[in-house]
Order: sequence, then structure tokens, then C-alpha cells
Amino acid sequence: MVAANIAAADEKGISEAARILRAGGLVAFPTETVYGLGADARNGNAVARIFEAKQRPQFNPLIVHLPDVAAARLHGVFDDGAEKLAAAFWPGPLTLVLTRTASTPISNLASAGGETIALRVPGHSVAQALLVAAACPVAAPSANRSGRVSPTNAAHVAASLGGRVDLILDGGACPGGLESTIIDLAGECPALLRPGLITRDAVEEQIGPVVLPDERAGVRAPGMLPSHYAPEARLRLDADAPGEGEAWLGFGGGLAMTGVPSRNLSPSGDLVEAAANLFAMLHDLDSSGMSGIAVAPIPEEGLGIPINDRLRRAAAPRD
Ligand code: TXA
Ligand code: MG
Repeated sequence: MVAANIAAADEKGISEAARILRAGGLVAFPTETVYGLGADARNGNAVARIFEAKQRPQFNPLIVHLPDVAAARLHGVFDDGAEKLAAAFWPGPLTLVLTRTASTPISNLASAGGETIALRVPGHSVAQALLVAAACPVAAPSANRSGRVSPTNAAHVAASLGGRVDLILDGGACPGGLESTIIDLAGECPALLRPGLITRDAVEEQIGPVVLPDERAGVRAPGMLPSHYAPEARLRLDADAPGEGEAWLGFGGGLAMTGVPSRNLSPSGDLVEAAANLFAMLHDLDSSGMSGIAVAPIPEEGLGIPINDRLRRAAAPRD
């Protein structure tokens, strides 16, 4: 395994980390909860590299970190409840799931193709300094490999991700050690998607009743599919060519389609590029008016695993 590149979270380390983020790289950084594995949320390829590094078999939507509520308002639609919670708990260990604004430049992949976005303003001084220096929204799940425990110091990150991350900013141990509380405000009523340091009672004091996911029809636990995009068009996987009434979603070289709506996830066969394009291209082809989308085979390796997982779910019969 390649040794991890660790820097002290001083002025020099933070400006180097900001430079890496802006160049599309991955930086692990401390927050008041756990270490995050960050990438420029606007850069689809950089966001795809997060999933590659975590070796997750599925695309989970990610939390996007901002330095303050003014920056967060560019990306999520804030209603009264969101404003109240932001005023009460930000910066701090609270994540708000909101409807994406029409103009947000955040990659579709960070929302796993859905119409909502999870936003958080962390209070940790290193996270704050990094977000200000990078001056971009930073998508960051916990900085552990899929299925491992969340890291609360730089050594945990190095052990779990090692050389898969361009830089680890060592800001010592995280004071919280428990991930942020997640409140979904994008549905019919507020829901607590993940309990955390900020309690349900504290949230209810601000905005009134908050339900648990299983108390609200249609809300599922985080990571299950709540905000995942399901195309209207029927998907046909491992196709050689589009059939009658089908648009074409290609991968790699070969077949160039004319006469039907088509996109290519990555003409060069790059799975990082394919992951970055997946949801936007499904949206495009779905709105082309064709009744189906034929999809070229995608290799079942690396990021091909979550891409195929997503495609199979989208292709599965619906009730
Ligand atoms: O404390 C934290 O929140 C840490 C630090 C790094 O900020 N981050 C973190 O991220 O725990 P992660 O990816 O390990 O957990 C994010 C959770 C996932 O369960 C995901 O499904 C949920 O948030 N989530 C993200 N976006 C969502 C969305 N749009 N709708 C519903 N759930 C969402
Ligand atoms: Mg996690």
C-alpha cells in the first residue's frame, strides 16, 4: 500500500490542502464529528474519486460542507425551518437535507442523482479554515473505507485509506467522534434521518415535531434510496445497440449513434469519468422523450460496481 501523505493542519498545510481540492484532488480533514474525505463538490470527476477511494459498492448521496449559511443558501432551498436550525446549530454537527437550488453547480453525483442535497457548516477550526481557503463547496463522507468505522484521528484515516487520498490534514483527534445529526426538510414533514450530537428534542424546540423515518411513509433510512433518481424510461442493460424507441447510453469507443438521442459515459472507457456523468446523462436521455434507454456494458470492477448497481436498480421492475 502507498504511504499516506500527512500534513500538519497549520497555515501551510491548509493552503496546500485547498490547492489540492481546487485541482480536483482528495483531502481528508478533521471536523468536530469525524474526519471527512473531501473533494470539490462541483467537480464530478473529483466526487467520483471519493467513491473510488471508499470502495463503496453503491452511490450514496454525500454531505456537502460550506463555511457559512450564506454559502449554503446557494445550493439548498431554505424555508423557515431550515433558517431556524441553521441559526441555532451552525456552525456545528447538524446536516440539513434540502431541495437543491436550480442554479447550484454541485455535481449530480453528490446527490446520487436526486433532487435533494445534504448541507453542513462544520464548526471545527481546521474545517472552517480549509473551506474558506478552498472557496468551493466540499463534498465529504466520513474518511473511511466502506464498512469500516468512522475515523476520529489522522492515523485512522491513513490506516483505512492510505495512499488513496492525496493529503491528510492532521488536526488531532475529533472532539465529537459521532457523525452529525441529519434532518430532512425536503419532504412533507421534517424527519430525523440520523441521530447525532444534536438531539431530536433540541431540534424540536426550534421547529416543532420531527418524525423518525419509519414514522413517515416514503422516507427511508439514509443510504437506502431516498433521493435516488429513477428514470421514467425503461432501461435495458448490456445492450449492443439501441432498439425501437430507445435512446443510447454508451461507454468506451466503438458504436457511434446517429439518429437517436445518445450520450457516452466515457468515450475513453474511464470509469471515473463515467461515474461523474452517470446521473446527468440518465436525466438527459430520460427527458429526450424515448420510451427506453439501451445501455452499453460497463465492466464490473472499481467504480463500475456502483455504476452497475445504480443501473440495475434503475432497470428493475417498479410497482
Ligand atoms: O459528521 C458528519 O456528518 C461527517 C463529517 C465528515 O461531516 N460526514 C458523514 O458523511 O458522516 P457520510 O457520507 O459518512 O454520511 C452521510 C449520510 C449518509 O448516510 C447519506 O445517505 C446521508 O448522509 N445523505 C447524504 N445526502 C443525503 C440526501 N440528499 N438525502 C438523504 N440522505 C442523505
Ligand atoms: Mg460514514
